[in-house]
Amino acid sequence: MGAFRLFLAFLREQSDPDRFYGLLARDSVALVERHHPLDGARVVDVGGGAGYFADAFRARGASCLLVEPDAAELASRGTPGPASVIGDGYWLPLADGSVDVCFSCNVLEHVRDPAGLIDEMIRVTRPGGIVYVTYTVWLSPWGGHETAPFHYLGGNFAMRHYTRRHGRKPKNVYGQSMFGLGVGPMLSLARGRTDVACVEARPRYYPRWCRFLVSLPGLRELLTWNLLLILRRQP
Ligand SMILES: C[S@@+](CC[C@H](N)C(=O)[O-])C[C@H]1O[C@@H](n2cnc3c(N)ncnc32)[C@H](O)[C@@H]1O
Repeated sequence: MGAFRLFLAFLREQSDPDRFYGLLARDSVALVERHHPLDGARVVDVGGGAGYFADAFRARGASCLLVEPDAAELASRGTPGPASVIGDGYWLPLADGSVDVCFSCNVLEHVRDPAGLIDEMIRVTRPGGIVYVTYTVWLSPWGGHETAPFHYLGGNFAMRHYTRRHGRKPKNVYGQSMFGLGVGPMLSLARGRTDVACVEARPRYYPRWCRFLVSLPGLRELLTWNLLLILRRQP
């Protein structure tokens, strides 16, 4: 699917979320499928929100467990789909090595300890299986989510500015449900582990040839926007 088409849909994310998240889910599932067949695969979607991704995995023949801590988020598209549970990504209700694909889209920047979440995702993935994570990079123009671009003046400043302007706190509260996560630290973490091999590391929403951006220290923090990491669990 064209990166440009996804980008156009993103521009209308607020007014037409079904279109954007439906497209993103199908595109993400296709990315996973380049590394692991999905027909009959066991998948867990960590922080799966409203279930767009779980639906797309099931449409490709996988069985998908959705784990989401926020009940309102889970029910935001009506009754949650089958195999949806309220749970925390740090304590997945799964045995070691029990899934083929452990998937998480745009969750890492919302947790206090991203390395801990990745640990847990690797734990439940079988050797040969895939861990897929994406997250919004803090120093990108969208890093502050709805408080952007004022996050460049600091997360707390951006939050106070948003609250003054809108008369309410933002949905993503800096230091509570949104954290400043860069490209460098997560790349070092992924590449420093011996239990996974990093099979893709690149900007999520740009064409594939833009992957060189993540090898430019400093600039990558500003330009990547959203980082995709695909890791293969080693035997
Ligand atoms: C920006 S939303 C992304 C939802 C969905 N993955 C998507 O891309 O549409 C971030 C999600 O992370 C979830 N989340 C926050 N902390 C979490 C945790 N400790 N474990 C699992 N999910 C968590 C939130 O409840 C929320 O649904």
